[in-house]
Amino acid sequence: MTSIAFIGAGRLGATLALALAQRGRAVTAVASRSRASAQRVAAAIPGCRAVDAAEAATADLVFLTVPDDEIGPLASRLAWRSGQSVVHCSGATEVAVLEPAARRGALIGGFHPLQIFADPAQAIELLAGSSVAIEGPPALEAQLRTIAERLGMRALMLPPGARALYHGGASFAASFLLSMLQEAVDAWRCFGVDEAQALQALLPLAHGTLAAAGRKGLAGALAGPVSRGDVGVLQRHLQAFESLGAEHAAFYRELTARQLRLARASGRLGEAQLAALQTLVERR
Ligand SMILES: NC(=O)c1ccc[n+]([C@@H]2O[C@H](COP(=O)([O-])OP(=O)(O)OC[C@H]3O[C@@H](n4cnc5c(N)ncnc54)[C@H](OP(=O)(O)O)[C@@H]3O)[C@@H](O)[C@H]2O)c1
Repeated sequence: MTSIAFIGAGRLGATLALALAQRGRAVTAVASRSRASAQRVAAAIPGCRAVDAAEAATADLVFLTVPDDEIGPLASRLAWRSGQSVVHCSGATEVAVLEPAARRGALIGGFHPLQIFADPAQAIELLAGSSVAIEGPPALEAQLRTIAERLGMRALMLPPGARALYHGGASFAASFLLSMLQEAVDAWRCFGVDEAQALQALLPLAHGTLAAAGRKGLAGALAGPVSRGDVGVLQRHLQAFESLGAEHAAFYRELTARQLRLARASGRLGEAQLAALQTLVERR
């Protein structure tokens, strides 16, 4: 059986190592900057040892689950060989950073789970159903696809050079959602609702919106004044955000302008309604 090692026993490394071992893969070694981190993960996996990075780098399949800035230096420093595969798990760093391993004959690739890993015990539950961006030559791609299937993950193939847009784009479905909610919380604070109360009310709405997008697509899920061509409501919204501050009004205006694209795609509004909305968002 292919021996698997992890270098980097942090949030993602611990989660993937445990998940793969639980699904019958031979996770034989874990290395990390501190021995204690490696030992903590190795102790949870039968047959797995805490070792140094040089020893971990002898496994058949080595995952580099270290901070992005550490991937290149490790790839340059360790003694790779042909017949093995070296994979990083970063979304933003190109696989080319592993070239030093390729020059020594190893196959190099990427395996980026599109999910948030905070606490490994909880994160392991999130793997199934999540997507994972896979990149690599055909033999390694097939191996990584099999691993994804074992974990119940959906494989998404990434061509070389696409990572900045892939990872930057994914921010809109992750941390940028928090910026949206921050804007709502700031607005609601003006009439005395605190963040905890606001989130209690807003998160079910956010979940409902995302669920509708899953069922009907983005344009089909569009609700609210733009979807109805309600110019009067939008005027009142804009006035309220102007009173909150110019940057709040600008943000609201920009998002409304983006929604017009969805409204057009939904086919629900006529040209006159779309033009009236456009005029409103462009007016300063
Ligand atoms: N967390 C996420 O949500 C997530 C999601 C997708 C992808 N990723 C990617 O996964 C990779 C790891 O991220 P993470 O969030 O798991 O980071 P992390 O929790 O900070 O863990 C990184 C681990 O690497 C170890 N380390 C640091 N420098 C090292 C070195 N030179 N040699 C050996 N071990 C070293 C650290 O060691 P010690 O603990 O031993 O000090 C730490 O345990 C990154 O490429 C990241 O982009 C993360």
